[in-house]
Amino acid sequence: MAAVTEARRAPGTAVRWAVRHGLPGAYLARAARRGDLVGRLLREPAQRIDPHPVYEALRAQGPLVPSGLGLVTTSHAVAHEVLRSPSFRAGWDRTLAPRWMQWAMQLSEDPDARGVGEPPSMLVVDPPDHTRYRRLVSRAFTPRATAAYEPAVQATADSLLDRLAGRTEPVDLVDAFAAQLPVLVIAELLGVPVDRREDFLRWGHAAAATLDPGLPFRRYRSAERALREMHGFLRRHFARLRRHPGDDLVSQLVGLPEEEALTEPELHATVMLLLGAGFETTVNLLGNAVVLLDAHPDQRKALVADPGGWAGAVEEVLRHDSPVQITGRSAAADTHVAGRDVPAGTRVTLLLGAANRDPDVFADPGRFDVTRVNAREHLAFSGGIHYCLGAGLARLEAVVALRSLADRFPGLRVSGQPVRRDLQTLRGFEQLPVTLG
Ligand code: HEM
Repeated sequence: MAAVTEARRAPGTAVRWAVRHGLPGAYLARAARRGDLVGRLLREPAQRIDPHPVYEALRAQGPLVPSGLGLVTTSHAVAHEVLRSPSFRAGWDRTLAPRWMQWAMQLSEDPDARGVGEPPSMLVVDPPDHTRYRRLVSRAFTPRATAAYEPAVQATADSLLDRLAGRTEPVDLVDAFAAQLPVLVIAELLGVPVDRREDFLRWGHAAAATLDPGLPFRRYRSAERALREMHGFLRRHFARLRRHPGDDLVSQLVGLPEEEALTEPELHATVMLLLGAGFETTVNLLGNAVVLLDAHPDQRKALVADPGGWAGAVEEVLRHDSPVQITGRSAAADTHVAGRDVPAGTRVTLLLGAANRDPDVFADPGRFDVTRVNAREHLAFSGGIHYCLGAGLARLEAVVALRSLADRFPGLRVSGQPVRRDLQTLRGFEQLPVTLG
């Protein structure tokens, strides 16, 4: 039966893949072959290991340069300006696409296959809808609410580390700790069942790939399968909460009074984003931090001696090896940026990982220095109205996780070759073998 349903869906999946990934992928591959730097960045596997040489080659061409993907910037000032400018929007204006593409998109539309990079996800919608969604969830992420989560975050970190005590063989720190802590914390906060965390991790992992343009068909199909499972889980979960509401954020969202109520697709998009963004990014921050500190043992030692430095260290990791490397905006009207006319509809790709190494803002930007005074000026959490809602929570989790890890296992060492995730928009490790000392 499942096979029959899958076969019936297959044409829709193929059309969705073709317009969202197949055609852009083919276009980028052709651009890469012609030497286009953005094409290379997004198509060449080597760029997943180290995108910085291409970032620097782009920087040498200027603050805002044409590429296979429209305009692209490595400049902190330009990214900062675009993110805050009312002349730019986060959403795509579909009416600017060729007619046949609009038609194909409409025909293959399937709410159960939608990921967090598609409307009505808050990430890619503009005011007034964006304002409405964000207001409904922001109460759970105020500085005061976030600070109140600290004891729970600490208790979760402690119990995960307890399970590692005494292990003498190499341990995959992503699997055993860095992936587990964020998913447990966000599941608890949202009131979704923590015993489904392995499913959330599996779904989130597959779905994260849909943020990259030009995904191969097989990966897209498996991401879509994961998204369907996640939507199915959410549908059943919302029905349960309507019958038996708790005092958690999701119960509040499903029980909103009629005048404020979210539609079913809005509810799915909002909860899926909170859940996915809550763990798919923080895992990268933790893994990137462990690898950087392992490569800089003096800085790690200084942090163990003075734990007051952890907050600054987290900012420097966010700057130096940003968990979200790329975002983009479209010009809502004809505008002017960095001395260049930008016509309405132009896509501007913001290379956040490159902006965070802009020498005009960060002295000797390739150097990792946990005492860097202006590290917090990074754009790792974006800026403007889409500034990361969970930035405070991510910072809290990272400080608690890294401090606790260093206290508990002062002899921790990376003990094999860490494996990067096969992603370009998100940057982190898939596997991180360590010995705990
Ligand atoms: C190290 C961890 C994290 C990083 C680097 C990160 C990064 C980002 C970035 C770059 C954006 C904006 C993208 C854009 O402007 O196009 C964003 C938005 C968002 N993040 Fe995070 N994030 C992290 C953790 C979290 C956590 C823990 C949550 C918890 C729920 C979260 C929830 C969100 C939400 C809801 C948005 C959409 C905000 C909006 O569109 O108004 N993030 N994040």
